[in-house]
Amino acid sequence: MLFPTFYVPGLGQGMTIALVAIIHVIISHGLAIGALSLVVLMEHLALRRGDGELAGLAQHILKPVVIIVTAVGAVTGAGIWFTVSVLVPGGIGSMLRVFFWPWFIEWIAFTLELLVLLCYYFLWDKMRARHAGWHVALGWSYLAIAFSSAFLISGILGFMLTPDGWVQNRQLVSAFFNPTFWPQLTLRMLGAFALGGLFTLAFVLFRRRLSPELRLRVSRLLGGWVLVCGILAAAALWFYFDAVPRTYATHKVFAMLTSRLSQESWLLWLGNILAVALIAAVALAALARRRLASKLLIIPAIILAIGLASEFERIREFIRGPYLMPGYMYANQIPLARSQYLRQHGFLAHTAWQLPQPPGFEARSQAAHTLFMANCGVCHTIGGLNDIRDRLRGRTLPSVNVLIRRAEQMVPFMPSFSGTPEEALTLATYLYEISGNRRSLASAPLSSQEEVRGE
Ligand code: HEC
Repeated sequence: MLFPTFYVPGLGQGMTIALVAIIHVIISHGLAIGALSLVVLMEHLALRRGDGELAGLAQHILKPVVIIVTAVGAVTGAGIWFTVSVLVPGGIGSMLRVFFWPWFIEWIAFTLELLVLLCYYFLWDKMRARHAGWHVALGWSYLAIAFSSAFLISGILGFMLTPDGWVQNRQLVSAFFNPTFWPQLTLRMLGAFALGGLFTLAFVLFRRRLSPELRLRVSRLLGGWVLVCGILAAAALWFYFDAVPRTYATHKVFAMLTSRLSQESWLLWLGNILAVALIAAVALAALARRRLASKLLIIPAIILAIGLASEFERIREFIRGPYLMPGYMYANQIPLARSQYLRQHGFLAHTAWQLPQPPGFEARSQAAHTLFMANCGVCHTIGGLNDIRDRLRGRTLPSVNVLIRRAEQMVPFMPSFSGTPEEALTLATYLYEISGNRRSLASAPLSSQEEVRGE
């Protein structure tokens, strides 16, 4: 292990990354692409039709969107880099070696995107007074840069689930244009348009100073927009999961419902169907010019749409199971080939870091805690989400030991243990003890001691 791992109390590493990422996804998709596409489109239409009121509405929508995109969107975008480079430095380092140029260009695109957006916002009045056409062109160029940013990131995200050709030929082109690239990019764009439509619709419905005629006209347009983009996004979702290998796709239900509810898959379908029905209902209400119904439904619809987006990201991240990069690296940042080596030659002899136990823990073996954090800490916590003690409570020491050495056969989401049988036993004893099973190995029946030691 070249880098230390950090213990995040309660949330654990995975959920910490997920929380920052999901806020960023909602803002970057829903506002930076979705709502801003509509603002530019409205300005474009207003210019062609000489409709000053429509242009004014577009400008009003722009203000809160720019504030949120620059303040929260950009900060969480950089925040993803901060959290992943602290929590999964080995993984991100390997990804950077494959995707150096796409990422390099993306950083330029990201900076440029913000600069152009700020110019578009601050020069609205000045440019529209003299060169209105140029201002609309500035808006379209912002969208083109935002799209190129999404294009670059989709290649990298798709690679983490379906690296396919790259594992054999190590070519950037194979890694980038992987099997899920096009369906995922299409899905992200259409999802962003639909979510942006809902955000914009909420703004239009709740804005006080707006002529009733314009409100009805624009809500009707937005209702149709959400409906069409939503249906196309559903089709893209189907193409996406069609490109995902079946062994991964089968983990969809488990990803959302965990082992506790995974037998009740109807819960997931019911939730999804209700969410889709409610979003369709608000779009239809807006299309039919029913203001009251639209106003009542729009906030729940937005919450559910954010839920669907989060669900997609959760499933996409979860189903690739034990891998960070399938065929190359495990989720705990240990490359597959390295894991094999560590099994024979020992983990602790080849780690640069021994991790102290976090404050508040009863002092126990530091070596064992290091083994836990390196092997299991990316997905399990002690006392927080996916608590290892809950998973192990009630088990005997030999069974914990077997589970560690056969982790990949027990649960398809877990990587195999990277260490020698002796290290597995060290970890097993530690986990067995912290799980409330106080009996030490010495007081266990003789037969189980032998089993554990593999004698
Ligand atoms: C890539 C993520 C990941 C890693 C790494 C990981 N686990 Fe898990 N583990 C999971 C998930 C997900 C579950 C299922 C959680 C649930 O029940 O909802 C699980 C479940 C378990 C269970 C319960 C199994 C059962 O059949 O009930 C045990 C025990 C366990 N893990 C131990 C470990 C140990 C020990 C390590 C480290 C050697 C480890 N895990 C590493 C993700 C991981």
